[in-house]
Amino acid sequence: MSTDVWWKKAVVYQIYPRSFQDSTNDGVGDLAGIVQRLDYLKWLGIDAIWLSPIYPSPMQDFGYDITDYTGVDPRFGSLQDFDQLIARSHALGIRVILDVVPNHTSSEHPWFLSSRQSQTNPKRNWYVWRDPKADGGPPNNWRSVTGGSAWSLDELSGQYYLHSFLPCGPDLNWRSADVRAAVASALHFWLGRGVDGLRIDMVDFLAKDARFRDEADASYTFATAQRHLNQPEVAQTIEEICQVVEAYPDRVAIGEINPGSNVARTVSYYGKESRLQPFNFGLLGLPFEAAALKAYIQAYEAALPAEAWPNYTLGNHDTPRLASRLGQPGSRLAALLLLTLRGTPYLYYGDELGLENVVIPSDQIQDAWEARQPGKGRDPCRTPMPWHSESGAGFTQGEAWLPVGAQNRQRSVECQQQDEASMLMLYHRLIALRKRSPALLSGSLQLLNAPSEVLMYERALGDSQAITIANFSKASQKVVLPDKARGWQSIFSTQARELSKSGDSFELLPHEGILLS
Ligand code: NOJ
Repeated sequence: MSTDVWWKKAVVYQIYPRSFQDSTNDGVGDLAGIVQRLDYLKWLGIDAIWLSPIYPSPMQDFGYDITDYTGVDPRFGSLQDFDQLIARSHALGIRVILDVVPNHTSSEHPWFLSSRQSQTNPKRNWYVWRDPKADGGPPNNWRSVTGGSAWSLDELSGQYYLHSFLPCGPDLNWRSADVRAAVASALHFWLGRGVDGLRIDMVDFLAKDARFRDEADASYTFATAQRHLNQPEVAQTIEEICQVVEAYPDRVAIGEINPGSNVARTVSYYGKESRLQPFNFGLLGLPFEAAALKAYIQAYEAALPAEAWPNYTLGNHDTPRLASRLGQPGSRLAALLLLTLRGTPYLYYGDELGLENVVIPSDQIQDAWEARQPGKGRDPCRTPMPWHSESGAGFTQGEAWLPVGAQNRQRSVECQQQDEASMLMLYHRLIALRKRSPALLSGSLQLLNAPSEVLMYERALGDSQAITIANFSKASQKVVLPDKARGWQSIFSTQARELSKSGDSFELLPHEGILLS
């Protein structure tokens, strides 16, 4: 695979469409709203946007429960709005990646409505149906990701259907050739319309044990499951999806792996010739400490297949906000790592502002997961983007579907663009430095010796060199540069302070990171 494909050098920005920009003042973001904000993304230095699902949906899982794979939900706009979004993005040099959800549909999808009609319905086999156990209970001990059994009894036809996530999302049967063909045709629809890539939801769930055997250990987690996901047959499915994607030049497929911080499991999903990009969620779950991160980076780099291209991500719509996990100083260091490690960085909207989780009053809770497992709801990290600090935050003039949050409103784009020391300006500068540095875009990575609470690595390509030094400690740290660290010209600090080029050592402030490039 060429080293020069666009997505290897791209900074990818995830947009949760409900929360980015509302152009109709119904309180929900939409495609025309995203178009209005493309100039901001261009200014930030974003190369590609990944849109969480925009398809028609009853929104019980906010678009991950699809009723039509080839439409746009009217709340988000129309196919014309979508075409407009593609055209305007491409005109600015921004690519568009769509989220696809092949593991399950909405229980209101016409396919499922047919399937549940009777055990002899022609679409019966499109979903996963099993008889109850002798005692009337679910067919096996598989659990849903959102808690409880992964099976629900359908009174209408007397069998259980499988739902690996919420009961409103019955799993498609990927052993059916008709299902494979129907989903492939939907992918062709979007790729033919100019979409530059696909993010594939729950790719590791696309094959289940053919005999539906119990998980041997009933207290299994999704990292240890042997039967319900992660089956060898998934490779064939990935291969088929990649073939569809590759029928179009210059496209990318990215897969969501559960849990993607397990190095061995993550890299096993690269697919033939490393064409599928499995998300690397290592930075989401690890303790934010030099030793743990160093060990992880080392293990990940060492495990990557020869052709494979790495990636890193700090946040998404399923995870507590970065700044709530790490605090503001920690988030600044995390930004430095995300934008200087080797691989494609995935940035979640609003993390560039240091947005924090918003406490959602109980009568405003939206996420169905919260009702199943209190505390697991994902609303706090999905709140509207604050564009300015006045009422509505520039997101809507209506009533926003989730509260913006008083503190997050003070972190608006408008405020931060006027503050050289802001989180937003940190991202803006780091992205610009990254784009100018061949070493950061495509160079090798080598971890360097440093004090125990400091992570230091070198990126190099030909004459181009960059050194990242990150101090994770609450105390200042003196770091001596190795002899080889000589090929840099400029110094950048995550704490927006001037450092001069002198000697071979640096005194880093608590939680300070510096980039020499
Ligand atoms: C993973 C997605 O990221 C999440 O938001 C969604 O609810 C589930 N898959 C089900 O599709």
